[in-house]
Formats: sequence, structure tokens, C-alpha cells
Amino acid sequence: MKIGIIGLGSMSSAIAKGLIAHGGIAPENITASARNRARLESKCSELGIKAGTSAEAAESSDIVIIGVIPGQVEAVAREIGHLLPDKITVSIAYGVSHERYMEILPEGCNVICTVPNTPVEVGKGVFVCSNDHSLTKEQFDVFKDVFGRISLVELLSPELLDLGGIVAGSTPAFMDMVIEALSDAAVLHGMPRDTSYRLVEKMMEGTAAYAMESGTHPAALKDGVCSPGGATIKGVASLEESGMRGAFIKAIAAIMK
Ligand SMILES: NC(=O)c1ccc[n+]([C@@H]2O[C@H](COP(=O)([O-])OP(=O)(O)OC[C@H]3O[C@@H](n4cnc5c(N)ncnc54)[C@H](OP(=O)(O)O)[C@@H]3O)[C@@H](O)[C@H]2O)c1
Repeated sequence: MKIGIIGLGSMSSAIAKGLIAHGGIAPENITASARNRARLESKCSELGIKAGTSAEAAESSDIVIIGVIPGQVEAVAREIGHLLPDKITVSIAYGVSHERYMEILPEGCNVICTVPNTPVEVGKGVFVCSNDHSLTKEQFDVFKDVFGRISLVELLSPELLDLGGIVAGSTPAFMDMVIEALSDAAVLHGMPRDTSYRLVEKMMEGTAAYAMESGTHPAALKDGVCSPGGATIKGVASLEESGMRGAFIKAIAAIMK
């Protein structure tokens, strides 16, 4: 499987790292492009992947990732659109719809619009994908097989794609803040900083894994560790008093404005 990356920025570098470390893709099977050649070559040599022009990246690949910022998508479509028919084109450009791709690309292109999140780099990401894609069944199976190695691949209706991107894509920053805040609390009470980060990060990973693997409702998991009159319910009550749920709901609403 050969992969072309048009626009090796922060997000597509995270995807490349994930595919190499966790997706079984050999670095020499990835070719990437960018506008600044010197910066591209330095990034590519760090990753062990090939640097090329956008045309070379598209032409030599089975899967082409459009990783440029949304404002550059039309320029990219003009430059390499003719090379895309019959390939699996994966857009990560936030807000550029499948409908728009069908307007700016030549006939015969097969495109899926997605919003990935940064944990793809460690093979534990999310790719929310618009279900109005034009991949054939075989192409979608290939897409799901490759990107499913580094993420949960979740199909959503086009109206929910941006919201899905926010819920899975912006919230890692919120969770980093939660990790930092809990670590601050532990340090305040005398724990060394590095110990606190180790404990909190593993707790976050384990809590999510426990919820996913057990399929238990998160409220039931919370109830399970709150004994009557015990320490944990006091912390839960304090968080409710501080408006924790409302703060997250407001944060998502603020992004959607
Ligand atoms: N960052 C995230 O967490 C995230 C999450 C989900 C989706 N996305 C989406 O991912 C895309 C990239 O975001 P980013 O944060 O990775 O941006 P970024 O770091 O600025 O990367 C953009 C890359 O595209 C290259 N580029 C720009 N115009 C080009 C052109 N005409 N031809 C070839 N390469 C070109 C840039 O190269 P030069 O630097 O040489 O100009 C740069 O390497 C965006 O569409 C964004 O919506 C990002």
C-alpha cells in the first residue's frame, strides 16, 4: 500500500508517524509534499519517508491524503486533480465538504472527507468520516483497514461531521488540561510532579479502556467507586458544585459558535 501526503503539516505528520509505528506501513511507501522544500526534506528525513512534489506524491500512491489547510484545497485540486481518479482520496481539510470536492475535482475521483485527531500518532486516534463519501465498497474496506489500525473509524452524516471533529478533535486539549489540573492538585498536596503525571495519565488511559471494554455506562462506573459517605462522593459533589459538567457543555458550544 503506497500513501501520498499532500501537505506534510502537523496533522498529516501525526498520521504518518502513526501509520509507520502502528499501521504496518513502511516509511519508504509514503511520499509527502509541501510548499517549502527545505522544511519538507528535513521533516521527511526525520520520518524516513520520501519527499516529492504533490504530483509525485499523488501519482505514486494508492491512497492520497489531502493534508493542506482548507484555503489551499482548491489550488491542490487544480494542480493534481487529474491524477486522482481511481485512487482513494482522503481529505483531512476541516470544513471542505464532499460536495465541494465533487465540484472541484474531475469526474471519477473517489473521496472521503474526514476529521482525524492527534492521538492517531500513537495508534489510538479517531477518524470521524462523512458517510456521503464516493469510495467504492472495496476502496472503503481498504481505507478502513489501513486507518483502522491507528484509530476508531466512525462514519457520521455530513451534518454531524464538524461536531464529531470537535468532540473527538478539540477535546484532547481539554483532557490535557484535566491531566494538568489533577497533577497540580497532587503537587499541591506534596506529590512530585513526574509521579503525579504518571499516575494521572495511566488513570485516564485505564478509565477510558475500562468504559469501552466493559460497555458499562460511565455513571454506573462512577457510582461503583462512590461508597456512601466516602471520600470519592465528596470529590464528586465538589466538582458538581464547581459546575464541571456545565463547563464542558459551554466549551463545546463556544467552539460551535
Ligand atoms: N491540527 C489538527 O489537530 C487538525 C485536526 C484535524 C484536521 N486538521 C486539518 O488538517 C489540515 C492541516 O492542518 P495542520 O494543522 O496540519 O496545518 P499545517 O501544519 O499548517 O500543515 C499544512 C501543510 O500543508 C502544506 N501546504 C500548504 N499549501 C500547500 C500546497 N498548495 N501544496 C502542497 N502543500 C501545501 C504546508 O506546507 P508549507 O508549510 O511548506 O507551506 C504544510 O506542510 C487542515 O485542513 C486542518 O483543517 C488539523
